[in-house]
Amino acid sequence: MDDTAFAARLAESGAAIERELDTLLGADPRPGEPARPERLIQAMRYATLGGGKRLRPFLTVETARALGRQDNGPRRAGAAIECVHAYSLIHDDLPAMDDDDLRRGRPTTHRAFGEATAILAGDALQALAFEILADPATDSIAEVRAVLCAGLARAIGLAGMVGGQMLDVDAEGATAPLSVKEIARLQAMKTGALLRFSVEAGSRLGGAGAKAGAALGTYGRAVGAAFQVADDILDAEGDAATLGKRAQKDAGRNKATLVGALGVEGARRELARLVDEATSA
Ligand code: IPE
Ligand code: IPE
Ligand code: MG
Ligand code: MG
Ligand code: MG
Repeated sequence: MDDTAFAARLAESGAAIERELDTLLGADPRPGEPARPERLIQAMRYATLGGGKRLRPFLTVETARALGRQDNGPRRAGAAIECVHAYSLIHDDLPAMDDDDLRRGRPTTHRAFGEATAILAGDALQALAFEILADPATDSIAEVRAVLCAGLARAIGLAGMVGGQMLDVDAEGATAPLSVKEIARLQAMKTGALLRFSVEAGSRLGGAGAKAGAALGTYGRAVGAAFQVADDILDAEGDAATLGKRAQKDAGRNKATLVGALGVEGARRELARLVDEATSA
């Protein structure tokens, strides 16, 4: 698949995910819900709809598709993962974290809605993700749903995304720079784990066997690692107009990145190595 075909496929999948999210984040209460507080649902919609590459759901949907599954289940799982991703960005941008004003070309959620609403929108998006995964509409087999819920919990908690964010925040104040190995671990947790889970969810939903499952595991880990290295290179070399978020912020904040440890060229070499690893898997 060449770059143009890939971009078209990504756009098509992104539009389908957008529709799914729009439905899941409807403003009106669902049966059994007493209310969907207006300010909260508006902030959740603001943070989730109308932007983003939708790469994580793409990985879920395309992995399942490669294994022969094309119904709405993988799309729902992808939407759940995108809810978690949106939550992570809301919290990542907060003044107490990266303190950013611009995200996806618009004011960050706390800028648009205030900090209290932004924190709550993130919390509610995280909970919604598990609700979506646990719903029989995602997969008719209860064990598959349980495995997905447990896998997501592991990917985003103490030893996953949130743990990685903790290491990221700690590194800002560290007196000695982190080693390359420590940076790789930090990034595998803060960013890699959710990307890896995105592939794993597609693999589970597509019913991958042991061999395909193992190859997809290697692929997901390498893609997840590559992604944060690419994000760090873009921070160093990109501009806000293209990225839709502030650039050149990592160095100023003393962030632990491979660009900081190895320079842009060194980070580029590591990125190429990870992409090769993903491709061969
Ligand atoms: C940004 O993720 C945050 C990182 C984990 C590096 P994306 O680059 O996937 O952000 P969107 O969804 O496209 O805005
Ligand atoms: C964000 O990493 C990782 C998570 C949100 C878990 P960054 O802080 O590098 O992401 P950007 O550059 O703000 O998008
Ligand atoms: Mg951050
Ligand atoms: Mg950030
Ligand atoms: Mg970044």
